This record gives sequence, structure tokens and C-alpha cells, in this order.
Amino acid sequence: MNTLYFNANSDFIPTCSDIIRAGGLVAFPTETVYGLGANGLDGNAVNGIFKAKGRPNDNPLILHIADKEMLFSLWESVPSAALKLIDAFWPGPLTLIYKKSARVPNEVTASLDTVAVRMPRHEIALKLIKEAGVPLAAPSANISSRPSPTSFEHVLHDMDGRIDAIIDGGKCACGVESTVLSLVDTPTILRPGAITPSMLESVIGKVEIASAVLSPLRCDEKVLSPGLKYKHYAPDAEVIIASGSPQQASQKIKTLFDEYTSSGKKCIIFSTLSSLPFYEGLPCVTIGDSENPITMCANLFSLLREHGSKYDCILTEAIKSNDEGLAYMNRLLRASGFKIV
Ligand code: TXA
Ligand code: MG
Repeated sequence: MNTLYFNANSDFIPTCSDIIRAGGLVAFPTETVYGLGANGLDGNAVNGIFKAKGRPNDNPLILHIADKEMLFSLWESVPSAALKLIDAFWPGPLTLIYKKSARVPNEVTASLDTVAVRMPRHEIALKLIKEAGVPLAAPSANISSRPSPTSFEHVLHDMDGRIDAIIDGGKCACGVESTVLSLVDTPTILRPGAITPSMLESVIGKVEIASAVLSPLRCDEKVLSPGLKYKHYAPDAEVIIASGSPQQASQKIKTLFDEYTSSGKKCIIFSTLSSLPFYEGLPCVTIGDSENPITMCANLFSLLREHGSKYDCILTEAIKSNDEGLAYMNRLLRASGFKIV
């Protein structure tokens, strides 16, 4: 397939919305990561997404909408907690899950009776959805199990020749995917993101956090979100996380660095801003400020992609898993396959 590319200044909306209405696939920027969009009301078009990504088809998709009215036809009803959250956080990086209406095809939800919906904040995404006139089913626009794409180049690398078009909207602001909150029973965070537990609690009161957010799924565990079952965000390199105080963690990293290097492995350190002095003289990149984890979220996937194929091993520190640190540690732990020392 010959993939079309559009830059943000061109008049791409008519062509791209035609592609969507005709059942094709368009990758587009959002404020979180790039999405791979298809007409979310067309089961065949949605099947194309699974094929292009190599995504297991029991992993459901998020429907992206451009106005609140679109939501009313996708859910059976709209609970009051959802209305409050929508007023507070939409458009933005929050996905809400509730009981689906008959209008939503099973291909989107992997035959679950619930559907995930989000209104992205990115202007290009909103324009594309509005002009197409349908909700866009869109997972992250990467080959399944690889780090999510946060730039046009990442999407091009994974999807060139597999999809109809890619819109270049530059670098994504958040760099990690939306917070996923289920409202089916007690509000539960299935995937943490830039909208933090305390931000949600300030609007609707207590929210639970699914145990799989920071630990591997136990074999006997009920799978709240099928996406939690799968290997995720994995670069080619082995990723190892060192825990403890910054001093302890950086000492562990230096020891591992020596061990791995002497066994012939090529290693790089992803350092926090404050730990940088500990690693003087070693191959090292700064991932962000651990006091402001949102800066680390913004760089994680792109650094994993950039260095994951050049090195055998990436060594990095754990940070506190509160607020935006929860989203960061969730992605880092999965990228490492929960390899934490
Ligand atoms: O920021 C984002 O959310 C990005 C951009 C493109 O909007 N999208 C994204 O989609 O990350 P995806 O497909 O990569 O991740 C969706 C997650 C998966 O873990 C999936 O299992 C979960 O949401 N999910 C979707 N529908 C669900 C449902 N009905 N019940 C439980 N989990 C669901
Ligand atoms: Mg994904």
C-alpha cells in the first residue's frame, strides 16, 4: 500500500476524512501519542486496525469523539460521574469506560459490553473527527507491543506501507497515553496517565487503582482491561530498573553497568536530571526531572525507540509512583518486563 503523508499546514482534512468514511486508516496526532484511526462504526474498517498493528483482536479500542453529543449514541446512558469528569477534563487525556449502546460494533470492544471513549485535545484530531462525522476507533499507531509513537517519524517507522495516510503534527505534548477510567462499577483506573488519581478524586471522590497498574497480572486475576495482559512498550534492548534512594539506585546502576559491559554488552543509562553527576564519564542521556515526572513521561517512549535498537541494555532509576509518576512507572515497568532490582 502506498501511504500518503500530510504536513500540518497542508489541506489534508478533506482527503483524510474521505479515507476514513471509505473504510481506510489514517494516523493522526493527539496530545498523548499518535493514534491509528478508522471509522469506529464500521466493523470492517476497525478490523483493518488490528491487521496493520498486529494487535491481538481481544484487546478493545478507544472511540475518539469531537463533541459531547457523539457520546450519547455510544453509551447505554451517561452516569453523573461521567458528566462531571467530562466538564472537568474533556477535551483532554482521559478515557472513560461505560456500558456500550447497540450502535458500537463488536470489533471495537472485542465483544465486551462496555466501550472506552475519549475526546482528544489536539486540534488536528478534533478537526479530523468532526469532518469525518463519525467516532474514530484509534489505538496508538505503533506495531503491537512496541513503544507508542510520539512523533511523525515513529509512526512512519512502524506504519509506512501498512496504512492509507499519516498526518504530521510534530511531537506529542504528553508522550504517554490517556488515563483510562472505568465507570462500570466503583470508578477504577485501569491505566494511569496525565490526569492523575488526585485530579479525578477532586471531582468524583474516591477512585480505585487496578492492581495490574504497577505489577504483572497474576494468573488467577480477573482481567479488567485486556491491554494489561500483553507485553508493552518493549524496545529491542533489555531494560533494567534500579530502585531505592537516588544514591542507592545510581550505585546499583554503576555496578550493573560494569557487570554488563565486562560481559561484552553495550549499555546506556537513562538518568534523571538530579542523578546526572553520579554518572559522569558513562554513556548517559537525561530523561527528565524526577520532581516533575511529566517531563519524564514526555521523553520515555522516544528515548526507548531511539536507543533501544542501538544498545543491548538500558539502565534507569525508579521514581516515586505518585501523581504523574504513576503513569511513568506503569510504562517503564512494562517496558522492562518488570525487571526491577
Ligand atoms: O492516549 C490514548 O489513549 C491513545 C490515543 C491514540 O488516544 N490511545 C491508546 O489506545 O492508547 P490503545 O488501544 O493503545 O490503548 C487502549 C487501552 C488498552 O489497554 C485497552 O485494553 C483498554 O484501553 N480498553 C479499551 N476499551 C476497553 C474496555 N471496554 N474495557 C477495558 N479496557 C479497555
Ligand atoms: Mg497502545
